[in-house]
Amino acid sequence: MSSQRDVLLLVGSAKRPRSTSESLGSYLCERLGERGFETETLLIHRALKSDQGREELLAAADHAGVIVLAFPLYVDSLPYLVIKAMEVIAKHRRAGGEREKQRLLAIVNCGFPEARQNDTALAICRQFAREVGLEWAGGLALGGGEAIGGQALPKVKGMARNVIKSLDLAAAALAEGKPVPQEAAGAMAKPITPGWIYALLGGIGWKRQAKKHGAQKKLRDRPYHQS
Ligand SMILES: Cc1cc2nc3c(=O)[nH]c(=O)nc-3n(C[C@H](O)[C@H](O)[C@H](O)COP(=O)(O)O)c2cc1C
Repeated sequence: MSSQRDVLLLVGSAKRPRSTSESLGSYLCERLGERGFETETLLIHRALKSDQGREELLAAADHAGVIVLAFPLYVDSLPYLVIKAMEVIAKHRRAGGEREKQRLLAIVNCGFPEARQNDTALAICRQFAREVGLEWAGGLALGGGEAIGGQALPKVKGMARNVIKSLDLAAAALAEGKPVPQEAAGAMAKPITPGWIYALLGGIGWKRQAKKHGAQKKLRDRPYHQS
């Protein structure tokens, strides 16, 4: 039986010690905690390591009134372990009987600066919710997630201003049993850094890495190009 006041945060990044996915999900859970919700966090990569972990994940997912799935974008889609967790949950729910209302919110962050890179991943999450009988509470997409780099959002300060605004709005809506408003999705999608700064810093980082690997003269190579 699920409890509407219980929130399960499923973190889909295996990055240690902390990921941006965890920063975003934890901030939201803290705000829900302030509103009287009980919150629990599970790291998907750990949970899926053992049968016991898998059972714990399924029990927590059965119990939670709100499931928050926070993960990074991998190759325009979901990381393998997040897909695996979805498959495990779907199989379990198909075998089960009556269920009370449970809601799913997805938060995805990606490396490229445009939040819309995450559109397909959010559509997959929405379809997952539909297929397993979870109510879709909405999706939040963040571009340039590396700028947060797993830090606690209040520490990131100015740069995370819109991210914080988005999650505050999302927490308020979820607490009232509503889906996250469009305003929250819009605030999350606002670029963390202007595109030209991203390109500048990305270029510097790219050249540094090339130098480290002795490949600075090979950056324009096209080994698979066919003339
Ligand atoms: C295997 C892999 C694939 C990735 N694919 C994409 C991608 O398709 N588009 C993108 O914008 N970022 C991509 N990224 C970047 C991550 O989404 C980005 O670094 C994100 O901020 C990591 O979040 P986390 O700290 O929660 O793990 C990829 C990263 C990895 C490791």
